[in-house]
Amino acid sequence: MKFDTPATTNPIDRLRVVGKPTDRIDGKYKTTGTAPYAYERHDVVANQAYGHIVGAAIAKGRIERIDLAEAQAAPGVIAIVTAADAGPLGKAQTNTAKLLAGPDVQHYHQAVAIVVAETFEQARAAGALVRVEYARAKGAYDLAGAKSGAATPDKSEHPDSAVADFAGAFAAAPVSIDATYTTPDQSHAMMEPHASIASWQGDKLTLWTSHQMIAWSKRDLAKTMGIPAANVRVDSPYIGGGFGGKLFLRADAVMAALAARKAGRPVKVALARPMIANNTTHRPATIQRIRIGARRDGTITAIGHESWSGNLADGSPEMAVQQTRLLYAGANRMTRTRLALLDLPEGNAMRAPGEAPGLMALEIAMDEMAEKLGMDPVSFRVLNDTQVDPEKPERPFSQRQLVKCLQDGAAKFGWDKRAAKPGTVRDGRWLVGMGVASAFRNNMLMKSAARVRLNDKGVVTVETDMTDIGTGTYTIIAQTAAEMMGVPLDKVVVKLGDSDFPASAGSGGQWGANNSTSGVYAACAKLREAVTAKLGLATDAVFEDSRVKAGGRSAKLTDAARDGELVAEDLIEYGDLDKKMQQSTFGGHFVEAAVDSYTGEVRIRRMLAVCAAGRILNPKSARSQVIGAMTMGAGAALMEELAVDKRFGFFVNHDLAGYEVPVHADIPHQEVVFLDEVDPQSSPMKAKGVGELGICGVGAAIANAIYNACGVRVRDYPITLDKMI
Ligand code: MOS
Repeated sequence: MKFDTPATTNPIDRLRVVGKPTDRIDGKYKTTGTAPYAYERHDVVANQAYGHIVGAAIAKGRIERIDLAEAQAAPGVIAIVTAADAGPLGKAQTNTAKLLAGPDVQHYHQAVAIVVAETFEQARAAGALVRVEYARAKGAYDLAGAKSGAATPDKSEHPDSAVADFAGAFAAAPVSIDATYTTPDQSHAMMEPHASIASWQGDKLTLWTSHQMIAWSKRDLAKTMGIPAANVRVDSPYIGGGFGGKLFLRADAVMAALAARKAGRPVKVALARPMIANNTTHRPATIQRIRIGARRDGTITAIGHESWSGNLADGSPEMAVQQTRLLYAGANRMTRTRLALLDLPEGNAMRAPGEAPGLMALEIAMDEMAEKLGMDPVSFRVLNDTQVDPEKPERPFSQRQLVKCLQDGAAKFGWDKRAAKPGTVRDGRWLVGMGVASAFRNNMLMKSAARVRLNDKGVVTVETDMTDIGTGTYTIIAQTAAEMMGVPLDKVVVKLGDSDFPASAGSGGQWGANNSTSGVYAACAKLREAVTAKLGLATDAVFEDSRVKAGGRSAKLTDAARDGELVAEDLIEYGDLDKKMQQSTFGGHFVEAAVDSYTGEVRIRRMLAVCAAGRILNPKSARSQVIGAMTMGAGAALMEELAVDKRFGFFVNHDLAGYEVPVHADIPHQEVVFLDEVDPQSSPMKAKGVGELGICGVGAAIANAIYNACGVRVRDYPITLDKMI
């Protein structure tokens, strides 16, 4: 099904099932620990051996020699694989660094060997006996130090943008700000580590794994192993979080496949928690310079945003300027993205790459500017709203309710009680303040396929390689199929995460919900045609209450399948609708924070997000996404930072004891409001994504609340105690 003109009325609009706050179908399995994660799939294949990955102990250089004698002689050891005997490995499309080092080492904890043994303990113990001699080379590990050598990234499509005369307008502006903000390297810190079980049947490979993008992982595993994609099956039905860390094929998968081939039996591998930060990807640190100029009435006349980040050779920049191209009006504009070569582990996508760190900077700058103008920060943002792409004014937004998000949020939050002057509201020893930030995240359209089956019991089964990374995919797909086929939710079975199913959009970039349900919509539309043809009914039949009704006639849905199951498969594809119209999601984040006037300790008291993101397919799972993202935003604001050892080039705090993330106790009260919105430009579902919108802007809203509370302006995240005093 091609979707390239705005949607008209369709069966989803009835909202009998879609749009309801249905409990997650997989919820009870997840909360009772009975949804098996990759490492726990003991029953999928017999005779599983354990693999333990040995990571490089240098960040850059060469492996001179590996001595395996001691490890090989250790109890229970079955096989050891290093680059020396792994055979040629192809380059996966989505990886920057190789997943197996040798002889060159490209980053710390890059895999250098995998030890396979009968038990996990034996594999780990033998891993410690692998002796590797390195020749360490000098590397670059400090973004601030490498910044002057940063260049225009060749892998980014639009690293720079310019409209009219930024420099002239900025210089002439009566009120202006020129400030630099920094965000640190961050780790996804998902609950379930990267894990895979690999099994060969001749030249065919099956991988039970934990992955967001099944089609990418299948493609890249085949490429890396040098076998046809048709020989690879990837299966990932339950996933304990991804946040972008499981978008790409990683060492657990490739090393398990290599180890299983050499051991001649299935091998399971989990990345130990202390391996994840340095072996996999992370959100790269940024340095961001923002310049804003305005007239005294608050109208922005010049807005400029430059961002520097680092990565390995061939890596991509963090596109932190992305939202600044689209969020506020202003006749004179400039954005610039520069990339420095760093020998730290590979930087890549983490929840809302681009906007999440970008808004952490931009939305503090907006707060600083509002203060200079003597304006309320909500009013300043509202005044500079735009309904068209400010770089290409001929392009409208498909929907844009930023102003309503900010105004509704202000009313609901009690923003009128905020004191404009910092440090003036006290509650005992605590100084109390409020902060606001706009939220913005793009809405990406990705093709997505699904297959649906109808049997003579009236059961509708959906099959797609779409993943549920904890987001609620099972549930919204079931809701979509139930709505389309006119059956109750308990008559729908959803099967996900298997590469033998039609290829979906996958889970990433908050595109999963809208695109994968649209693929199911398309397949169901085809199944409806098969049903009406079978029943001899008109194609505009109404499907409801497990019946099909048209032209005064009505038949049972099951009648259509009485001679055998009906099967339909289709793909949603998009034309250039999102080129003609800018598609984005919007929100307003409001935070009340308290700062201990003696110690500088920060406590978040209340958070509110008002979101405009098209039709909300399931308000309960969408709300969970947003509060999870707000919590992650609090982590980014106050706690999360991978500490770089600038001498030896690795992240020092590479476990959850050293890399701190917030817990429920850190955030007493969170509220989420969704504006009643449908976006006929986004898909037949008229929905968009919310999972990343929820984090966008949160960090700055917290920083602004802290400033309002106590008058300390921190521009260097995370806002830890040492920066408060
Ligand atoms: Mo996301 S960072 O594209 O999973």
